Amino acid sequence: MRHLISPLDLSIEELEHILCLGQEIMESPEKFSHICEGKKLATLFYEPSTRTRLSFEAAMLNLGGKVLGFSSADSSSAAKGESVADTIRVISSYADICAMRHPKEGAPTVAAMYSEIPVINAGDGGHNHPTQTLTDLLTIKTLMGRLDNMTIGMCGDLKFGRTVHSLINAMVRYPNIRFVLISPQELKIPDYLRREVLDQKNIEYIETDQLEQNMPKLDILYMTRVQRERFFNEEDYIRLKDSFILDTNKMKYAKKDMFVLHPLPRVNEIATEVDNDPRAVYFKQAKYGVYVRMALIMSLLGLDKAKQ
Ligand code: NCD
Repeated sequence: MRHLISPLDLSIEELEHILCLGQEIMESPEKFSHICEGKKLATLFYEPSTRTRLSFEAAMLNLGGKVLGFSSADSSSAAKGESVADTIRVISSYADICAMRHPKEGAPTVAAMYSEIPVINAGDGGHNHPTQTLTDLLTIKTLMGRLDNMTIGMCGDLKFGRTVHSLINAMVRYPNIRFVLISPQELKIPDYLRREVLDQKNIEYIETDQLEQNMPKLDILYMTRVQRERFFNEEDYIRLKDSFILDTNKMKYAKKDMFVLHPLPRVNEIATEVDNDPRAVYFKQAKYGVYVRMALIMSLLGLDKAKQ
């Protein structure tokens, strides 16, 4: 049985397989509409979500399966003090696969230890968000035709942004990837990522607090929200929340074929005027999230070989 807890749980070949399957689904979704008939996906969301939970549900429904679950800790027995280990033991007999989001780093790892069904980490605290990474990779691969040889700017909350952490982990496995890490001093990437991933693998990167002057060198700009819920005090959040705002003026400095991605939700960090720029692909990216989750569910259930 396979789980997806970190983006590194998938080998490059497995990842390639899921992305290709995602592209196949994108081209002819109807071919896949019965593959999960009789299967159930449980969504165990202890933390708010719009896209991740609903795209998982849409993915399973598109595959002909069914969904069940809860969308907040308050509406589950967690409110009564039940442990993740006990919850997953029970859910294992209600569903065939589950997606879990939890505010505590490591919760999905614990769930996987006690689970009899595949567990997908749908975001654990400030740690990882592997299915957002699959979404990001499918977006980059589809729009740029490659996952290597590029300069990726990551901007915003690089400290708490789990999507950033997972994407860095995933991208360093491809040749000739450079990072421009743009954040306020207080929201730089965690030390372990700098030491154990970037430095150890000799990846080229700079850390800066300048967005505009770095724009011209970027092939991808990955914008992120400042993560209010992970701050210890409101004052720091208010001081830092609008550190970077991408607007049409800053877009003038970008390459003509650069793409702007954002895992969403957006707060203020991208002015709505940028939405009309053809290089702004974050809504398309959210749509790709459904295809790639369809491919992932099929793979983890072992149904990817039996399609059509
Ligand atoms: C992200 C998350 O939950 O980490 N959202 C998402 O899943 N698309 C990013 C965020 O909340 O800012």
